[in-house]
Amino acid sequence: MTDTRQPAARPANPRFSSGPCAKPPAFTLDKLSDAALGRSHRAAVGKDKLKAAIEGTREVLGIPADYKIGIVPASDTGAYEMAMWTMLGARPVEMLAWESFGSGWVTDAIKQLKLDAKVTTAEYGQIVDLTAVDWDADVCFTWNGTTSGVRVPNGDVIPADRAGLTLCDATSAAFAMDLPWDKLDVTTFSWQKVLGGEAAHGMLILSPRAVERLESYTPPWPLPKIFRLTKGGKLIDGIFSGATINTPSMLCVEDYLHCLDWARSVGGLSGLIARADANAAAIADFVAAHDWIDFLAEDPATRSNTSVCLKFTDPRIGDGATFAKAVAKRLEADGIAYDIGAYRDAPPGLRIWCGATVETSDIDAMLPWLAAAFDAEITAQAA
Ligand SMILES: Cc1ncc(COP(=O)(O)O)c(C=O)c1O
Repeated sequence: MTDTRQPAARPANPRFSSGPCAKPPAFTLDKLSDAALGRSHRAAVGKDKLKAAIEGTREVLGIPADYKIGIVPASDTGAYEMAMWTMLGARPVEMLAWESFGSGWVTDAIKQLKLDAKVTTAEYGQIVDLTAVDWDADVCFTWNGTTSGVRVPNGDVIPADRAGLTLCDATSAAFAMDLPWDKLDVTTFSWQKVLGGEAAHGMLILSPRAVERLESYTPPWPLPKIFRLTKGGKLIDGIFSGATINTPSMLCVEDYLHCLDWARSVGGLSGLIARADANAAAIADFVAAHDWIDFLAEDPATRSNTSVCLKFTDPRIGDGATFAKAVAKRLEADGIAYDIGAYRDAPPGLRIWCGATVETSDIDAMLPWLAAAFDAEITAQAA
């Protein structure tokens, strides 16, 4: 499918998926040639690499020295559910959700753990009133709602002297947004997002208060082996120094080490944030210049700089879902933008990944094609 009025430039990389996300620029498989393949992850070579992944995470993200960082199974989902299953039930619980991933954690709390939790939700595009939250309860939330492009603006609303724990799913926020570590007791993410790593390994970051909870509380439900973080009432320290619960992929570990090296090469966390901000700003300029497209996020303060979600607002559009899918399909067919359709449970529209591994020049080159695809689809719809 080719538009008659084709823009001059094409993106060098059409990968704008929200996960797995684009690999770091200039990535090639030979960058992984030092992987400890065929070696035990418990041998010195394997353990050293796992430790480097943990300490590299601490260094790049600026995580305090007294926080524990573990590599755990099953990606972000594994890390977050492990925290819910091991820590919740000791105090009242508040669940906050404003898109599908947050809603998934609500399902876990209510239907699986059967907690008598207070649930507060907001529609796609909005965020819950964070000033109305009781932070003396354990509070579960997603920092950046990947499927709505709505994020927590900052951690100011979370009191330093809270009695509850904050459990933050930061999958699409880590490495692109400033995370206030003093306000976060449990933080989770997976490698496949902002740094363009591989999926299936989760990161679990615990404040001293989260460790205290683990060591003082035994949940009433059974815990599978891959969720167990304590033994005899003490934290299993090995998990937080590279002795993983079960076998990790040493190829994925090598890939993550490469991602961390690349992160350092662009200036570390501030460089990564600046890259995501520049990508999101390019889209904001485009939205401001076109009256047929808008952000799903209503309040600019909550607009994501990673999973940028857009909606079509032209009154000529008939069926919004069909229209948005057709635009995304044109861009995919032309090799301009892959995987930018809105998430299946989200309102119709587009979701363009703007995390650090995406080059602003590729966003800039893609946007005129989006305008052309929009025009072509309006014409096609009229015909
Ligand atoms: C906010 C959020 N939470 C959880 C997940 C699930 O991550 P994973 O598939 O790595 O477990 C995602 C993935 O997109 C996400 O964006």
